[in-house]
Amino acid sequence: MLQLTDAFARKFYYLRLSITDVCNFRCTYCLPDGYKPHGHSNKSFLSLDEIRRVSRAFAHLGTEKVRLTGGEPSLRRDFCEIIAAVRENPSIKTLAVTTNGYRMARDINKWRDAGLTNINVSVDSLDARQFHAITGQDKFRDVMAGIDAAFDAGFSKVKVNTVLMRDVNHASLNTFLDWIKTRPIQLRFIELMETGDGGDLFRKHHVSGEVLREQLVRQGWQLQIRSRSDGPAQVFSHPDYLGEIGLIMPYEKDFCASCNRLRVSAIGNLHLCLFGEQGIPLRDLLADDMQQDDLMDRIQGGLSRKKQTHFLHEGNTGITQNLSFIGG
Ligand code: GTP
Ligand code: 5AD
Ligand code: SF4
Repeated sequence: MLQLTDAFARKFYYLRLSITDVCNFRCTYCLPDGYKPHGHSNKSFLSLDEIRRVSRAFAHLGTEKVRLTGGEPSLRRDFCEIIAAVRENPSIKTLAVTTNGYRMARDINKWRDAGLTNINVSVDSLDARQFHAITGQDKFRDVMAGIDAAFDAGFSKVKVNTVLMRDVNHASLNTFLDWIKTRPIQLRFIELMETGDGGDLFRKHHVSGEVLREQLVRQGWQLQIRSRSDGPAQVFSHPDYLGEIGLIMPYEKDFCASCNRLRVSAIGNLHLCLFGEQGIPLRDLLADDMQQDDLMDRIQGGLSRKKQTHFLHEGNTGITQNLSFIGG
């Protein structure tokens, strides 16, 4: 089996595959004015066949896990077909989705039956009014029902993403912790990242991950030994809590040392990092099954350009205007 490895000996067995830029939420830190098409129509997102070809190439290159992202991936009408197409590759054992959760209560059984294995859902507040203020959608109860439905459907561990922001939801840290006392949720606190569109918001609301980690350690949370599947997240557990905490601290010095993922955007560009580079077009090699060898060569060749770290520390957000267009 081939294995994608970069110049710093990092191995990439995890692909984040964005299938649409469209989102129906308007999170303040991502798409505060809602999704606006930029230069391409919905039709120009990867087709089911293109998704089949790109996932097959990555599977041959050692990919074991694919995450479908967006935008909101479940807005695609062919979402279940996409899940099934990626799972056609026997070596892709894990097929995850990152979702805003609004369709979960309704559709989770269909997603599971199509082959979905893992779910990450964004919940930035446990207060319905604040949830509405952050996401622009009055969907708190639907999302909560979606999480319950995921447990009922047999997903044993659900990950929840929370972007903590000063003067917004940071003061509710203990409410979040209480919530996972009796639930097997991995609650991941994500340090707000500066994006091209989000400089002002970042300066106003960024809370350092370091501050957060100190708060948790003071309350008895213990750092777990890093497992291969954690990627850059630091995982903490506590004897009194059924849930776990994951800390995603992109501004931490060694954050990128454990990078295990590559990205393909919804228009078929390979991105070696969330920040800083233009992307390597793959789409011209997704038109026909005969192009698979060339596609694999381009992916492998492109990887040699992956840098040791992102340059966010210096405030360099590169071309990343917001995270919805590159799949977060
Ligand atoms: P697992 O696959 O369950 O480990 O989750 P994940 O963290 O890879 O996926 P998810 O889509 O839930 O991402 C959570 C947050 O982490 C998002 O805000 C991502 O943008 C951020 N994130 C994920 N990977 C990276 C990365 O390589 N670099 C940076 N800076 N942030 C990342
Ligand atoms: N900083 C941190 N996290 C972000 N996300 C989107 N934009 C940002 C940002 N600027 C997160 C969402 C979602 C995940 C896919 O990306 O909260 O959970
Ligand atoms: Fe949509 Fe996710 Fe961006 Fe929120 S963070 S607007 S749910 S893509």
